[in-house]
Amino acid sequence: MMRQPTILCLASYFKGEPFMEEARRQGCRVLLLTEEKLANAAWPHDSIDEFHLTPDLSNERWIINTVSYLAHERVIDRIVPLDEYDVPMAAALREHLQIGGMGVSATRRFRDKLAMRNTAHSAGLRVPEYVGVLNYDHLRAFMQRVPPPWLLKPRTEAGAMGIKRIAGPDDLWRWLDQLGDEQSFFLLEQYLPGAVFHVDSLVWDGEIVFASAQKYGQPPLNVAHDGGVFVTRTLPPESEDAKALRAFNVQVLAALGLSRGAAHAEYIQANGQFYFLEAAARVGGAHIADLIEKAAGINLWAEWARLVVADARGETYRLPTLGHDQAGLLVCLAKQDYPDLTAYNDHEVVWKLHKKNHAGLIVASPDGSRVQELIDAYVPRFAADFLAVAPPKNKPTD
Ligand SMILES: Nc1ncnc2c1ncn2[C@@H]1O[C@H](COP(=O)(O)OP(=O)(O)O)[C@@H](O)[C@H]1O
Ligand SMILES: [Mg+2]
Repeated sequence: MMRQPTILCLASYFKGEPFMEEARRQGCRVLLLTEEKLANAAWPHDSIDEFHLTPDLSNERWIINTVSYLAHERVIDRIVPLDEYDVPMAAALREHLQIGGMGVSATRRFRDKLAMRNTAHSAGLRVPEYVGVLNYDHLRAFMQRVPPPWLLKPRTEAGAMGIKRIAGPDDLWRWLDQLGDEQSFFLLEQYLPGAVFHVDSLVWDGEIVFASAQKYGQPPLNVAHDGGVFVTRTLPPESEDAKALRAFNVQVLAALGLSRGAAHAEYIQANGQFYFLEAAARVGGAHIADLIEKAAGINLWAEWARLVVADARGETYRLPTLGHDQAGLLVCLAKQDYPDLTAYNDHEVVWKLHKKNHAGLIVASPDGSRVQELIDAYVPRFAADFLAVAPPKNKPTD
Protein backbone atom coordinates (compact mmCIF):
# COMPACT_ATOMS: atom_id res chain seq x y z
CA MET A 1 0.00 0.00 0.00
CA MET A 2 2.89 2.35 0.64
CA ARG A 3 4.20 2.27 -2.90
CA GLN A 4 4.72 6.00 -2.73
CA PRO A 5 5.37 6.80 0.94
CA THR A 6 5.01 10.39 2.05
CA ILE A 7 7.95 11.57 4.15
CA LEU A 8 7.85 14.76 6.15
CA CYS A 9 11.29 16.25 6.85
CA LEU A 10 11.78 18.78 9.64
CA ALA A 11 14.73 21.14 9.33
CA SER A 12 15.50 24.00 11.67
CA TYR A 13 18.90 24.26 10.01
CA PHE A 14 19.90 24.09 6.35
CA LYS A 15 21.08 20.51 5.84
CA GLY A 16 20.08 17.06 4.66
CA GLU A 17 19.71 17.81 0.93
CA PRO A 18 20.98 14.32 -0.07
CA PHE A 19 18.30 12.78 2.16
CA MET A 20 15.50 14.54 0.28
CA GLU A 21 17.07 13.87 -3.12
CA GLU A 22 17.39 10.16 -2.41
CA ALA A 23 13.89 9.89 -0.91
CA ARG A 24 12.50 11.42 -4.09
CA ARG A 25 14.68 9.14 -6.25
CA GLN A 26 13.19 6.20 -4.33
CA GLY A 27 9.74 7.38 -5.41
CA CYS A 28 8.55 9.11 -2.24
CA ARG A 29 6.55 12.28 -1.84
CA VAL A 30 8.84 14.62 0.05
CA LEU A 31 7.43 17.30 2.34
CA LEU A 32 9.78 19.77 3.96
CA LEU A 33 8.80 21.87 6.96
CA THR A 34 11.43 24.47 7.76
CA GLU A 35 11.64 27.92 9.32
CA GLU A 36 10.87 31.24 7.62
CA LYS A 37 14.45 32.41 8.19
CA LEU A 38 15.61 29.54 5.93
CA ALA A 39 13.05 30.28 3.18
CA ASN A 40 15.78 31.24 0.71
CA ALA A 41 18.36 28.58 1.55
CA ALA A 42 19.50 26.37 -1.34
CA TRP A 43 16.95 23.61 -0.71
CA PRO A 44 16.78 20.96 -3.44
CA HIS A 45 13.36 22.12 -4.68
CA ASP A 46 13.39 19.63 -7.56
CA SER A 47 13.20 16.87 -4.95
CA ILE A 48 10.65 18.55 -2.69
CA ASP A 49 6.95 18.09 -3.44
CA GLU A 50 5.73 20.50 -0.80
CA PHE A 51 7.70 23.26 0.88
CA HIS A 52 6.19 24.56 4.13
CA LEU A 53 7.42 27.38 6.33
CA THR A 54 6.79 28.10 10.00
CA PRO A 55 8.07 30.93 12.19
CA ASP A 56 9.37 28.57 14.88
CA LEU A 57 10.04 24.87 14.52
CA SER A 58 10.61 24.46 18.26
CA ASN A 59 7.11 25.42 19.43
CA GLU A 60 5.58 22.00 20.01
CA ARG A 61 1.93 23.03 20.07
CA TRP A 62 2.21 25.14 16.90
CA ILE A 63 3.97 22.36 15.05
CA ILE A 64 1.48 19.75 16.20
CA ASN A 65 -1.32 22.02 14.95
CA THR A 66 0.48 22.67 11.66
CA VAL A 67 1.29 19.04 10.90
CA SER A 68 -2.12 17.78 12.06
CA TYR A 69 -3.67 20.28 9.65
CA LEU A 70 -1.44 19.00 6.84
CA ALA A 71 -2.49 15.47 7.74
CA HIS A 72 -6.15 16.25 6.97
CA GLU A 73 -5.43 15.91 3.27
CA ARG A 74 -2.28 13.74 3.30
CA VAL A 75 -1.26 10.44 4.79
CA ILE A 76 2.16 11.08 6.32
CA ASP A 77 4.08 7.79 6.55
CA ARG A 78 7.34 8.85 8.17
CA ILE A 79 8.69 11.96 9.91
CA VAL A 80 12.42 12.61 9.76
CA PRO A 81 14.36 15.24 11.73
CA LEU A 82 17.22 16.58 9.63
CA ASP A 83 18.79 18.52 12.49
CA GLU A 84 19.55 17.55 16.08
CA TYR A 85 17.08 20.13 17.43
CA ASP A 86 14.29 18.57 15.37
CA VAL A 87 14.70 15.10 16.90
CA PRO A 88 12.30 15.65 19.85
CA MET A 89 9.73 17.41 17.66
CA ALA A 90 9.72 14.51 15.20
CA ALA A 91 9.16 12.14 18.14
CA ALA A 92 6.31 14.26 19.55
CA LEU A 93 4.66 14.40 16.12
CA ARG A 94 5.01 10.65 15.59
CA GLU A 95 3.31 9.98 18.89
CA HIS A 96 0.59 12.55 18.27
CA LEU A 97 -0.17 11.30 14.76
CA GLN A 98 0.58 7.68 15.73
CA ILE A 99 3.20 7.21 13.04
CA GLY A 100 5.97 4.58 13.12
CA GLY A 101 9.50 5.36 14.28
CA MET A 102 11.07 6.43 17.56
CA GLY A 103 8.82 7.96 20.18
CA VAL A 104 9.49 10.54 22.86
CA SER A 105 11.25 8.43 25.51
CA ALA A 106 13.28 6.52 22.92
CA THR A 107 14.62 9.71 21.35
CA ARG A 108 15.22 11.29 24.76
CA ARG A 109 18.07 8.84 25.36
CA PHE A 110 19.72 10.33 22.28
CA ARG A 111 18.94 13.95 23.09
CA ASP A 112 19.37 14.34 26.82
CA LYS A 113 22.98 13.84 27.92
CA LEU A 114 21.89 12.93 31.44
CA ALA A 115 19.46 10.27 30.19
CA MET A 116 22.20 9.03 27.84
CA ARG A 117 24.72 8.80 30.67
CA ASN A 118 22.28 7.06 33.02
CA THR A 119 21.30 4.53 30.37
CA ALA A 120 24.90 3.73 29.39
CA HIS A 121 26.05 3.61 33.00
CA SER A 122 23.22 1.22 33.97
CA ALA A 123 24.24 -1.01 31.08
CA GLY A 124 27.75 -1.20 32.59
CA LEU A 125 29.41 0.90 29.90
CA ARG A 126 32.36 3.14 30.70
CA VAL A 127 31.39 6.83 30.93
CA PRO A 128 33.10 9.83 32.55
CA GLU A 129 32.07 10.31 36.19
CA TYR A 130 28.98 12.51 36.16
CA VAL A 131 26.06 13.83 38.19
CA GLY A 132 22.86 15.64 37.24
CA VAL A 133 22.45 19.16 38.66
CA LEU A 134 19.40 18.10 40.62
CA ASN A 135 20.25 17.27 44.24
CA TYR A 136 22.87 19.35 46.06
CA ASP A 137 23.99 16.50 48.35
CA HIS A 138 24.69 14.45 45.24
CA LEU A 139 26.63 17.38 43.78
CA ARG A 140 28.71 17.76 46.96
CA ALA A 141 29.45 14.04 47.03
CA PHE A 142 30.53 14.17 43.39
CA MET A 143 32.90 17.09 44.07
CA GLN A 144 34.47 15.22 46.97
CA ARG A 145 34.86 12.03 45.00
CA VAL A 146 36.02 13.34 41.61
CA PRO A 147 39.00 15.69 41.35
CA PRO A 148 38.50 18.88 39.24
CA PRO A 149 38.46 20.23 36.61
CA TRP A 150 34.87 19.42 35.66
CA LEU A 151 32.60 20.36 32.82
CA LEU A 152 29.17 21.86 33.39
CA LYS A 153 27.26 20.79 30.33
CA PRO A 154 23.77 21.58 29.02
CA ARG A 155 21.77 18.38 28.73
CA THR A 156 20.40 19.07 25.26
CA GLU A 157 22.72 21.41 23.38
CA ALA A 158 25.02 20.45 20.51
CA GLY A 159 28.26 21.71 18.99
CA ALA A 160 29.94 22.24 22.40
CA MET A 161 27.56 25.17 22.98
CA GLY A 162 27.21 26.30 26.57
CA ILE A 163 29.81 23.90 28.01
CA LYS A 164 31.64 25.55 30.89
CA ARG A 165 34.97 24.47 32.39
CA ILE A 166 34.71 24.42 36.17
CA ALA A 167 37.84 24.77 38.30
CA GLY A 168 36.38 23.85 41.69
CA PRO A 169 33.37 24.07 44.05
CA ASP A 170 33.31 27.90 44.34
CA ASP A 171 33.30 28.18 40.59
CA LEU A 172 30.44 25.71 40.35
CA TRP A 173 28.21 27.43 42.92
CA ARG A 174 28.80 30.78 41.20
CA TRP A 175 27.68 29.35 37.88
CA LEU A 176 24.65 27.65 39.43
CA ASP A 177 23.59 30.94 41.09
CA GLN A 178 23.81 32.58 37.73
CA LEU A 179 21.88 29.80 36.00
CA GLY A 180 19.00 29.93 38.51
CA ASP A 181 16.11 27.81 37.24
CA GLU A 182 18.17 26.76 34.21
CA GLN A 183 20.55 24.71 36.36
CA SER A 184 18.51 21.50 36.32
CA PHE A 185 19.03 21.47 32.56
CA PHE A 186 22.76 20.83 33.12
CA LEU A 187 24.96 17.97 34.24
CA LEU A 188 28.38 18.09 35.83
CA GLU A 189 31.07 15.69 34.73
CA GLN A 190 34.68 14.72 35.10
CA TYR A 191 36.96 16.38 32.56
CA LEU A 192 38.95 13.68 30.81
CA PRO A 193 41.86 15.08 28.81
CA GLY A 194 42.25 12.97 25.72
CA ALA A 195 41.61 12.46 22.05
CA VAL A 196 38.00 12.43 20.83
CA PHE A 197 36.67 9.91 18.31
CA HIS A 198 33.37 9.35 16.54
CA VAL A 199 31.66 6.34 15.07
CA ASP A 200 29.04 6.94 12.40
CA SER A 201 26.69 4.10 11.72
CA LEU A 202 23.58 2.77 10.06
CA VAL A 203 21.31 0.43 11.99
CA TRP A 204 18.71 -1.98 10.66
CA ASP A 205 16.66 -4.08 13.05
CA GLY A 206 19.03 -3.38 15.91
CA GLU A 207 22.01 -4.57 13.94
CA ILE A 208 24.79 -2.20 12.93
CA VAL A 209 25.07 -2.74 9.19
CA PHE A 210 27.63 0.01 8.65
CA ALA A 211 30.08 1.65 11.06
CA SER A 212 32.98 3.95 10.33
CA ALA A 213 35.35 5.08 13.10
CA GLN A 214 37.01 8.49 12.97
CA LYS A 215 39.39 10.51 15.11
CA TYR A 216 39.06 14.27 15.56
CA GLY A 217 42.20 16.42 15.44
CA GLN A 218 41.95 18.85 18.36
CA PRO A 219 39.00 17.90 20.63
CA PRO A 220 35.83 19.70 19.42
CA LEU A 221 35.62 21.61 22.72
CA ASN A 222 39.03 23.19 22.14
CA VAL A 223 38.10 24.16 18.58
CA ALA A 224 34.76 25.61 19.72
CA HIS A 225 36.19 27.60 22.63
CA ASP A 226 39.65 28.54 21.45
CA GLY A 227 39.22 28.56 17.68
CA GLY A 228 41.37 26.60 15.28
CA VAL A 229 41.04 24.19 12.42
CA PHE A 230 38.44 21.46 12.82
CA VAL A 231 39.93 18.16 11.67
CA THR A 232 38.65 14.63 11.55
CA ARG A 233 39.88 11.56 9.71
CA THR A 234 38.83 7.97 9.19
CA LEU A 235 40.78 5.37 11.12
CA PRO A 236 42.19 2.38 9.26
CA PRO A 237 39.30 -0.11 9.79
CA GLU A 238 41.63 -2.85 11.03
CA SER A 239 43.48 -0.65 13.54
CA GLU A 240 43.12 -1.57 17.22
CA ASP A 241 41.38 1.74 17.97
CA ALA A 242 38.85 1.27 15.17
CA LYS A 243 38.07 -2.30 16.23
CA ALA A 244 37.68 -1.31 19.88
CA LEU A 245 35.47 1.64 18.96
CA ARG A 246 33.18 -0.40 16.72
CA ALA A 247 32.76 -3.03 19.42
CA PHE A 248 31.99 -0.36 22.02
CA ASN A 249 29.59 1.32 19.62
CA VAL A 250 27.59 -1.90 19.26
CA GLN A 251 27.08 -1.95 23.03
CA VAL A 252 26.22 1.75 23.21
CA LEU A 253 23.58 1.65 20.48
CA ALA A 254 22.09 -1.52 21.93
CA ALA A 255 21.87 0.11 25.37
CA LEU A 256 20.37 3.34 24.05
CA GLY A 257 18.00 1.35 21.90
CA LEU A 258 18.26 2.33 18.25
CA SER A 259 16.35 -0.09 16.08
CA ARG A 260 16.51 1.45 12.61
CA GLY A 261 18.28 4.62 11.57
CA ALA A 262 21.52 6.58 11.48
CA ALA A 263 23.69 7.29 14.52
CA HIS A 264 26.63 9.52 15.32
CA ALA A 265 28.36 8.56 18.59
CA GLU A 266 31.39 10.14 20.25
CA TYR A 267 34.05 8.60 22.46
CA ILE A 268 36.99 9.96 24.40
CA GLN A 269 40.26 8.12 24.92
CA ALA A 270 41.81 8.64 28.35
CA ASN A 271 43.89 6.51 30.69
CA GLY A 272 44.35 4.07 27.82
CA GLN A 273 40.61 3.37 27.59
CA PHE A 274 37.59 4.54 25.64
CA TYR A 275 34.76 6.33 27.42
CA PHE A 276 31.34 6.90 25.87
CA LEU A 277 30.71 10.63 25.42
CA GLU A 278 27.42 11.09 23.56
CA ALA A 279 25.28 9.70 20.77
CA ALA A 280 22.81 11.24 18.34
CA ALA A 281 20.11 9.44 16.36
CA ARG A 282 20.94 11.17 13.10
CA VAL A 283 23.71 11.73 10.58
CA GLY A 284 26.75 13.55 12.00
CA GLY A 285 27.08 17.26 11.18
CA ALA A 286 30.08 19.32 10.10
CA HIS A 287 30.47 17.55 6.70
CA ILE A 288 31.16 14.18 8.32
CA ALA A 289 28.82 12.62 5.73
CA ASP A 290 30.99 14.09 2.96
CA LEU A 291 34.13 12.71 4.61
CA ILE A 292 32.68 9.22 4.88
CA GLU A 293 31.38 9.38 1.33
CA LYS A 294 34.91 9.97 0.07
CA ALA A 295 36.25 7.05 2.12
CA ALA A 296 33.48 4.44 1.99
CA GLY A 297 31.69 5.52 -1.18
CA ILE A 298 28.27 5.84 0.44
CA ASN A 299 26.48 8.99 1.53
CA LEU A 300 24.97 8.53 4.99
CA TRP A 301 22.14 10.98 4.29
CA ALA A 302 21.16 9.05 1.18
CA GLU A 303 21.49 5.70 2.96
CA TRP A 304 19.37 6.97 5.83
CA ALA A 305 16.72 7.93 3.25
CA ARG A 306 16.89 4.45 1.66
CA LEU A 307 16.57 2.94 5.12
CA VAL A 308 13.51 5.06 6.02
CA VAL A 309 11.88 4.26 2.66
CA ALA A 310 12.52 0.53 3.06
CA ASP A 311 11.04 0.75 6.56
CA ALA A 312 7.93 2.58 5.28
CA ARG A 313 7.45 0.06 2.47
CA GLY A 314 8.02 -3.00 4.62
CA GLU A 315 11.05 -3.93 2.55
CA THR A 316 14.55 -4.85 3.66
CA TYR A 317 17.37 -2.33 3.62
CA ARG A 318 20.53 -3.46 1.86
CA LEU A 319 23.84 -1.67 2.17
CA PRO A 320 25.55 -0.92 -1.17
CA THR A 321 29.09 -2.12 -1.88
CA LEU A 322 31.61 -0.06 0.05
CA GLY A 323 34.79 1.70 -0.99
CA HIS A 324 37.98 1.31 1.01
CA ASP A 325 39.78 4.62 1.03
CA GLN A 326 40.91 6.67 4.01
CA ALA A 327 39.90 10.31 4.18
CA GLY A 328 40.52 13.46 6.19
CA LEU A 329 38.44 16.63 6.57
CA LEU A 330 39.64 20.14 7.46
CA VAL A 331 37.29 23.09 8.08
CA CYS A 332 37.84 26.50 9.63
CA LEU A 333 36.29 29.94 9.82
CA ALA A 334 37.93 32.10 7.18
CA LYS A 335 38.68 35.79 7.22
CA GLN A 336 38.01 35.91 3.45
CA ASP A 337 34.42 35.90 2.09
CA TYR A 338 35.09 32.99 -0.24
CA PRO A 339 38.69 31.86 0.32
CA ASP A 340 40.77 30.71 -2.61
CA LEU A 341 41.87 27.10 -2.16
CA THR A 342 43.52 26.62 -5.54
CA ALA A 343 46.96 26.29 -3.89
CA TYR A 344 45.70 23.10 -2.20
CA ASN A 345 46.18 21.05 -5.32
CA ASP A 346 47.57 17.67 -4.28
CA HIS A 347 45.70 15.07 -6.28
CA GLU A 348 44.31 13.58 -3.05
CA VAL A 349 42.18 16.73 -2.56
CA VAL A 350 38.79 15.37 -3.60
CA TRP A 351 36.32 17.95 -2.25
CA LYS A 352 36.29 21.63 -1.41
CA LEU A 353 33.79 23.53 0.69
CA HIS A 354 31.92 26.48 -0.82
CA LYS A 355 30.50 28.38 2.10
CA LYS A 356 30.80 32.05 3.01
CA ASN A 357 33.64 32.72 5.47
CA HIS A 358 34.65 29.06 5.62
CA ALA A 359 37.59 27.15 4.25
CA GLY A 360 37.34 23.39 4.00
CA LEU A 361 38.53 20.40 2.05
CA ILE A 362 38.67 16.62 2.09
CA VAL A 363 41.68 14.52 1.17
CA ALA A 364 41.32 10.84 0.31
CA SER A 365 43.77 8.06 -0.44
CA PRO A 366 43.99 4.28 -0.15
CA ASP A 367 46.97 5.00 2.09
CA GLY A 368 46.12 6.17 5.62
CA SER A 369 49.60 7.54 6.29
CA ARG A 370 49.35 9.75 3.22
CA VAL A 371 46.05 11.15 4.56
CA GLN A 372 47.73 11.97 7.87
CA GLU A 373 50.72 13.52 6.11
CA LEU A 374 48.45 15.85 4.13
CA ILE A 375 46.47 16.80 7.24
CA ASP A 376 49.68 17.60 9.10
CA ALA A 377 50.86 19.76 6.20
CA TYR A 378 47.53 21.52 5.61
CA VAL A 379 46.56 22.44 9.18
CA PRO A 380 49.32 25.06 9.64
CA ARG A 381 48.75 26.31 6.09
CA PHE A 382 45.01 26.72 6.79
CA ALA A 383 45.87 28.61 9.97
CA ALA A 384 48.18 30.96 8.08
CA ASP A 385 46.04 31.38 4.93
CA PHE A 386 42.49 31.58 6.23
CA LEU A 387 41.88 31.22 9.94
CA ALA A 388 39.64 33.80 11.54
CA VAL A 389 39.26 33.49 15.27
CA ALA A 390 35.69 33.71 16.48
CA PRO A 391 35.14 35.29 19.89
CA PRO A 392 35.08 32.60 22.59
CA LYS A 393 31.52 31.75 23.53
CA ASN A 394 31.59 30.36 27.01
CA LYS A 395 34.53 31.45 29.05
CA PRO A 396 33.63 31.65 32.76
CA THR A 397 34.72 35.29 32.65
CA ASP A 398 32.00 36.17 30.10
N1 LIG B 1 33.97 14.61 30.10
C1 LIG B 1 34.69 15.25 29.18
N2 LIG B 1 36.03 15.35 29.29
C2 LIG B 1 36.77 16.02 28.38
N3 LIG B 1 36.25 16.63 27.32
C3 LIG B 1 34.92 16.56 27.15
C4 LIG B 1 34.07 15.87 28.05
N4 LIG B 1 32.79 16.00 27.63
C5 LIG B 1 32.85 16.73 26.52
N5 LIG B 1 34.11 17.08 26.21
C6 LIG B 1 34.55 17.92 25.08
O1 LIG B 1 33.46 18.74 24.69
C7 LIG B 1 33.04 18.42 23.37
C8 LIG B 1 31.53 18.53 23.30
O2 LIG B 1 30.95 17.67 24.24
P1 LIG B 1 29.76 16.71 23.86
O3 LIG B 1 29.35 15.96 25.07
O4 LIG B 1 30.14 15.93 22.67
O5 LIG B 1 28.59 17.74 23.52
P2 LIG B 1 28.08 18.38 22.14
O6 LIG B 1 26.71 17.82 21.98
O7 LIG B 1 28.05 19.83 22.38
O8 LIG B 1 29.00 17.95 21.06
C9 LIG B 1 33.60 17.05 23.13
O9 LIG B 1 33.78 16.79 21.77
C10 LIG B 1 34.92 17.10 23.88
O10 LIG B 1 35.91 17.82 23.15
MG1 LIG C 1 29.74 16.15 20.66
